[in-house]
Amino acid sequence: MKLAIVGTGYVGLVSGACFAEFGYQTVCIDKDKSRIESLKSGKCPFYEPGMDNLLSKHLNITKRLSFSTSLSNTLKDADLVFITVGTPSKRIDDDADLSYVWSVANDIGKNIKKYSVIVTKSTVPVGTSKEIKKIISNYVSEELFDVVSNPEFLREGSAIDDFMRPDRVVVGTENKISEKIMKELYRPLFLKETPVFSTSIETAEIIKYASNSFLATKIGFINEVADLCEAVGANVQDVSKAMGIDQRIGSKFLNAGPGYGGSCFPKDVKAFSSTAKKFKVNLSIINAVHESNENRIKNIVEKIIINVDNKCTISFLGLSFKPNTDDIRESSSLKLANKLSEKGYTINCFDPVAMDNAKKEFYNLNYFNSAYEACANVDAIVIGTEWNEFRALNFSKISKIVKTKKIFDLRNIYDGSELERIGFEYYGTGK
Ligand SMILES: NC(=O)c1ccc[n+]([C@@H]2O[C@H](COP(=O)([O-])OP(=O)(O)OC[C@H]3O[C@@H](n4cnc5c(N)ncnc54)[C@H](O)[C@@H]3O)[C@@H](O)[C@H]2O)c1
Repeated sequence: MKLAIVGTGYVGLVSGACFAEFGYQTVCIDKDKSRIESLKSGKCPFYEPGMDNLLSKHLNITKRLSFSTSLSNTLKDADLVFITVGTPSKRIDDDADLSYVWSVANDIGKNIKKYSVIVTKSTVPVGTSKEIKKIISNYVSEELFDVVSNPEFLREGSAIDDFMRPDRVVVGTENKISEKIMKELYRPLFLKETPVFSTSIETAEIIKYASNSFLATKIGFINEVADLCEAVGANVQDVSKAMGIDQRIGSKFLNAGPGYGGSCFPKDVKAFSSTAKKFKVNLSIINAVHESNENRIKNIVEKIIINVDNKCTISFLGLSFKPNTDDIRESSSLKLANKLSEKGYTINCFDPVAMDNAKKEFYNLNYFNSAYEACANVDAIVIGTEWNEFRALNFSKISKIVKTKKIFDLRNIYDGSELERIGFEYYGTGK
């Protein structure tokens, strides 16, 4: 089988490299010429553990992976075409901006020459794949293609492993031919007994949004419980542990923190609710999750303002929206840093891999080459992202270089009593 993947972001590139690992001849396409040029030379445009090695293997050794800016050339012999372009929130409302998806659908329609399965891997509202079908059939007969929804569940930071060993694969089809082709595509996973769910296209589209919204709900829930714990002197980490051990609840996504961020949850929660509204369904729980997450940033900013004067300098450790990625989209840590900067605080910061991305957007922050440099002479430290290297910082050393010993541990990675013993004022989350 020959594959074409349109869009070489986190999902497209990881999918492309992993499909090449399965053994398929794969061409990854992007409209961004400089991205394609750097990919041709083996350079991954983002930080993702293991990607450099996988790219190099399939680009140079197996030669199963190649890159192009031309969809028309690639469509000549692609059996499956994956749409993996971004679906961000629209600026004016909560809907997903599908303009990139429509543009690819039109390009496919104009260039398709032989039967191909068109697979939507981008996260798209229910009805989108059928709309893609309509667009393509404006150009060619419906016999020349099938549309399939195959939402992606990989997580940045562990994307390769998630793709190669997923909990499940969801495939929404409208006929047996495309279902058979998709089963054949995922045969390497099927052999590893990965559950493959064959559903309707609409069901597959909803599974993705329902999954992300449910995970966001768990985070929102425990964050509100954390507020209550703080108010009454309880410990949310113990609450989470005792709750999570109950198999009906599960321990994942039950860590209190500064609210969910990243390129998926914020936009997907909004788009899910907005899509439901169009069908006159009120997803009131999901609406509340969104509102609660927005309030989270405001509440943490207030907590810091009450405890640190705005003439002060604060050091932010961690800028990416979570560890092991350089993705700063909707990062809670950066949102907080910027809100405090607006209020007059001087912000120093350090992140192991996300600083280059942050520097391109936020000129108001001061960037340093190490956590220790970022903490010199500051009045408070904020742990914004729980990178492993922040878990074992030498606080005896830090206590000698800061101006004031104050720490806001938004990710609860430290034992407060240990830091208090060496003179730090410690503010955990929900404890
Ligand atoms: N990032 C994740 O962790 C993740 C996980 C699961 C699902 N998703 C979903 O996958 C989709 C892609 O997300 P991402 O984070 O990989 O996006 P991204 O923003 O990192 O990359 C999108 C890429 O598509 C390219 N592109 C846009 N229009 C194009 C066109 N017409 N032709 C060719 N290339 C084009 C862009 O240049 C860019 O390189 C989204 O719908 C997202 O919600 C993302």
